[in-house]
Amino acid sequence: MRLENCYRTSDFRKLAKKRLPAPIFHYIDGGADDEITLARNTDAFEAVDLVPNVLAGVDEIDMSVTVLGAKLDMPLFFSPTAMQRLFHHDGEFAIADAAARYGTLFGVSTIGTRSIEELGARNDAPKLFQIYVHSDPGLTSELIARCKAANFSALALTVDTVVAGNRERDYHTGMTTPPKLTPRSLLSFATHPAWTFNYLLREKFDLPNIASVLAAGSQKNYSVIDYINTQMKRTIDWDDAAEMIAEWGGPFAIKGVMSVNDARRAVDVGASAIMISNHGGRQLDGSRAPFDQLAAILDAVGGEIEVIVDGGIRRGTHVLKAMAMGATACSGGRMYLYALAGAGPAGVDRAMGLLRDEIERNMRLMGCSSMAELRPSMVATRR
Ligand code: GLV
Repeated sequence: MRLENCYRTSDFRKLAKKRLPAPIFHYIDGGADDEITLARNTDAFEAVDLVPNVLAGVDEIDMSVTVLGAKLDMPLFFSPTAMQRLFHHDGEFAIADAAARYGTLFGVSTIGTRSIEELGARNDAPKLFQIYVHSDPGLTSELIARCKAANFSALALTVDTVVAGNRERDYHTGMTTPPKLTPRSLLSFATHPAWTFNYLLREKFDLPNIASVLAAGSQKNYSVIDYINTQMKRTIDWDDAAEMIAEWGGPFAIKGVMSVNDARRAVDVGASAIMISNHGGRQLDGSRAPFDQLAAILDAVGGEIEVIVDGGIRRGTHVLKAMAMGATACSGGRMYLYALAGAGPAGVDRAMGLLRDEIERNMRLMGCSSMAELRPSMVATRR
């Protein structure tokens, strides 16, 4: 598989699988437990059909949306994901550059491999910082202050990781961060020399946003699972969310809301947006798909808070289905991570360009020239 032959997310996935040592590939690709939710996140879109309007005289297409205080040129953005320099040495810079090129939002992870300051200075693309409530409140406040100083446009508080999900593939492959040579993983690193040489020879792997925690820790090899299990405030509640909203004072999303009740509480607590998300099927397996919760959540809080559908998106038509139902925007992780891992900046550019073109082409086929023209009557649930 070569980059110029990649057209769909599963093509980029093949490229990533070929290039990455197994522990790294399966860290991206895997989910929790039996991976039921991971699969359902995408399958959910197939239960709803698009119903186009014809003879609509569509000429120019405007795909713009406004989300978390930023006007985006397309209704799909980069969800925050951890460890990007492990996947390709250009890591977060590749995503920041693509966000600027496509006029969309870049979600930056607390467990990122480029600092808040480096990414803030990189370009003017709107940036959302994904944050946790840490058990050390000083660390949380320090991160918020750094995001303000670096002109990040929004914060997203992740609420679905009070304990790490059970990612069995990581146990099998011995995934740690930074990667460690174990008898089991040695062969995999040795048989992927391009990745391994890049990893060893390029700038040292680093988690600059949480450097103070790592310096204080006794462990040398830290996994995301360890980080979540040791550093998060396990008893996080709505008061924590309210305090953070007040401390930040700007556009604020709660990421990981799944229930109608919690969506209502997010409105009450003053959040600007919810990201309906189950963390890409990496946390609570058996959880419902974000898209399957969209209609009920919009019925309850539509118009009172921005509603972002996060997870499972593999096609432009998935975005159109969510937008027709009334979502504010969509976001995804693996849809660009496979491309980053498989082909670096050129891969991300191609993957995002294909998704953008799909959205545009299919809006024309739907008879719509703007997102506002996509209406709930243009989707039907298959019985
Ligand atoms: C980190 O948030 C992960 O899902 O691995």
